[in-house]
Amino acid sequence: MDAIFTRRSVRRFKSKPVEKGRIEKLLKAAMQAPSAGNQQPWEFIVVTEPETLKKLAKISPYAKMTAEAGAAVVVLGNKEGMRFPENWQQDLSAATQNLLLEAVNLKLGAVWLGVAPLEERMEFITDFFNLSENLLPFSLIAIGYPEGQGNYFTDRFDASRIHYETYKN
Ligand SMILES: Cc1cc2nc3c(=O)[nH]c(=O)nc-3n(C[C@H](O)[C@H](O)[C@H](O)COP(=O)(O)O)c2cc1C
Repeated sequence: MDAIFTRRSVRRFKSKPVEKGRIEKLLKAAMQAPSAGNQQPWEFIVVTEPETLKKLAKISPYAKMTAEAGAAVVVLGNKEGMRFPENWQQDLSAATQNLLLEAVNLKLGAVWLGVAPLEERMEFITDFFNLSENLLPFSLIAIGYPEGQGNYFTDRFDASRIHYETYKN
């Protein structure tokens, strides 16, 4: 799968909106993710309003690119209906990664901006959207058409990390 190998964090975007149809495809990919007991604990807030994107960018010093993004997706966990609550972050990581890979397929650039488990950032999202107590902010994904550096292959294969049959210390 090419997207796995060429996906990069893209942090500079053209001032071009991301089409609704593309955003839908991103969310479809996110929802195809595996989850513990197939609990699918995800909810998504799609933001495309430039003014809202600018305000969201203030979540951390490492999320400034959100202000220039064509769209952002906030990935949330819904505590209601979680059968395996201890696994919510793994489930939402898989959904986030699926979305990032579909972005590559769609010639978009995207970057995973960490929210959970940092309480300050989780509270920022909760307050920003006035979320109820059952919703757990997990990640923020800034998305857009790449300006300059887009997706490209970088070789991270490291044979020394692989251990066949056993681990020899
Ligand atoms: C849990 C998590 C949190 C991250 N948070 C940020 C962030 O706040 N700001 C940012 O610019 N990149 C963030 N990243 C992206 C990483 O910096 C990036 O994936 C890493 O440097 C590897 O580069 P690549 O994505 O191009 O392969 C985050 C990635 C993960 C998985």
